[in-house]
Amino acid sequence: MIKLTVNGKPVDATADPDTPLLWVLRDDLGLTGTKYGCGIAACGACTVHVDGEAVRSCSYPLAAAEGSTITTIEGLSLDRSHPLQKSWIDQQVPQCGYCQSGMIMAAAALLKEKAMPSDADIDAAITNICRCGTYQRVRQAIHRAAGGQG
Ligand code: FES
Ligand code: FES
Repeated sequence: MIKLTVNGKPVDATADPDTPLLWVLRDDLGLTGTKYGCGIAACGACTVHVDGEAVRSCSYPLAAAEGSTITTIEGLSLDRSHPLQKSWIDQQVPQCGYCQSGMIMAAAALLKEKAMPSDADIDAAITNICRCGTYQRVRQAIHRAAGGQG
């Protein structure tokens, strides 16, 4: 059994230690906001925070998360009050939406490190793939959440 904390709640995970964290979150805990895209750490759809760092949970074994604090899109805020959630709604960022929880989680990790990121900082940190091409609005929403122009 592997102990971790997910969105503030203690969890005893019984999956095989090699199971990607993504499947523990989605299949065992029902946290389906985190998406599966590529399964090879390339697209970012599965991004969650492990101890505050953005990780691609499709390629992150459960064993590596032992004792860690995990935050998924469901735990970012309880009432859509996170600045990124507000700016995402203001800027109407999503199209199909599939990539967006991963985008927001990657952006949240960036803003924790850099309160006012430049375009270059955003481009370097947010390498998530969006097939709908929302990149411009993602950038604008991050700037707006940071308190700059958006
Ligand atoms: S599903 Fe994890 S990076 Fe694409
Ligand atoms: S909004 Fe459709 S993949 Fe990004």
